[in-house]
Amino acid sequence: MGHSISRRDVLKGTGASLAALGVGSTLVRPVIAQEAAFTEATDKSQEATRAQRMQWWHAAKFGMFIHFGVYSTIGRHEWVMEDEAWPIGPYTEHAAKFKPALNCPRAWAKLAMQAGMKYMVLTTKHHEGFCNFDTKLTDYCAPKQGPGRDIVREYVEAARGEGLHVGFYYSLMDWHHPDGARCATDEAARRRFVDYTHGLIREILTNYGKIDVLWYDVAWPLDAAGWESEKMNQMVFQLQPEIIVNNRNKLQGDFSTPEQHIVAETNGRAWESCMTLNDSWGYQRADDNWKSSRTIVRNLIQCVRDGGNYLLNIGPKPDGSVPEESVRVLTEVGRWMEVNGDTIYKSDLCQVRRSNYASFTRTGDTLYMHVHFWPGDYVAISGLKAKVNSARLLKTGAEIRFTQDEFQTKFTGLPEKAPDYPITTIAVECDSEPTQDTDFVRKNKPRASV
Ligand code: GLC
Repeated sequence: MGHSISRRDVLKGTGASLAALGVGSTLVRPVIAQEAAFTEATDKSQEATRAQRMQWWHAAKFGMFIHFGVYSTIGRHEWVMEDEAWPIGPYTEHAAKFKPALNCPRAWAKLAMQAGMKYMVLTTKHHEGFCNFDTKLTDYCAPKQGPGRDIVREYVEAARGEGLHVGFYYSLMDWHHPDGARCATDEAARRRFVDYTHGLIREILTNYGKIDVLWYDVAWPLDAAGWESEKMNQMVFQLQPEIIVNNRNKLQGDFSTPEQHIVAETNGRAWESCMTLNDSWGYQRADDNWKSSRTIVRNLIQCVRDGGNYLLNIGPKPDGSVPEESVRVLTEVGRWMEVNGDTIYKSDLCQVRRSNYASFTRTGDTLYMHVHFWPGDYVAISGLKAKVNSARLLKTGAEIRFTQDEFQTKFTGLPEKAPDYPITTIAVECDSEPTQDTDFVRKNKPRASV
């Protein structure tokens, strides 16, 4: 499905970008033919192994995103270099001042683990161009600048130490490299920059053992043909046959990446919603717009209800420590996950969704009603189609009484105070897969007489 579209897009891109680069039309045709054969082969082999490669990821549901780089030392958001139009000189001076504490990623990994996250994705290089890893291709990298060592290596070891899967974020866009913008209009610059980019990706996927996720970001200013994205992915899968890749190098990849919002993909395509804890990815010392643990848990529920993953970000401070508010929120989320984790990890797609104080997940014939505004007394669901056999409070195991007719299912005798925080889950055992039909209720529930 998505793959034939991707192939067409690539082919279109190939012609257009070569034309933009001034390549004569006589040359275009053979290149397109080659590219088509190449793309087909790559698509097929990626597709054939996809279900198996993505198995752990679908089970994982919840991951930690980490934005860490020179921008962290400035503390004004990871886009500061561009948004404030910093001259290159003063910005790169900060690379020398970037001195994170030794093994700071260990605290990130511990926090992720405690929060119930199963994988991590670290910015190996963000748009600023600074490489958190050791590389032969530039001096603008952690071992040769302030950190004096390979941050990515520390991160990989820390994540593995906690039993977490390891992901690498990599920004194609680069505000530091001399060819980072002119590659769009100068073929020699494009050649150099694409070689550099493929070279860096080769290094990160060669030097750290098995890597589970490659998370590309911002492909500006080139298209898939310009980046040679097919070749890029082919190299990636040669180096890491088990890896999964996202869709931000202008190819479909293995999963989609809705950002700062939750929208399910259709046709069974995998998706992961990435989101910040406040309004910034990189450390922004003035951003106090923190989400509550309740919002985070609600978001996580919404993602898994519709078959997606939730990748939640932290932006460590210059020394690598995690902002206190993030620690507090993630600790609360972790406590909730200790009790409610199975309702997340083991969730199947869930059709039930209508309530103004609860959201839902489902495992087989069990419906989990996650009540975020606890009214005490009773809660009710409209139009539940399956017959309820029993219900209990997940936190305490206490049985809950209920009544049910074709319109309303009502759980009664609830404690006045919410038994769990920030969300209380009621496990509802049904006689078949629970679904909801609120249209039926609207149309058929007896109305008053006039
Ligand atoms: C955007 C931003 C970037 C952030 C990313 C995370 O593309 O440019 O700063 O890293 O989203 O999804």
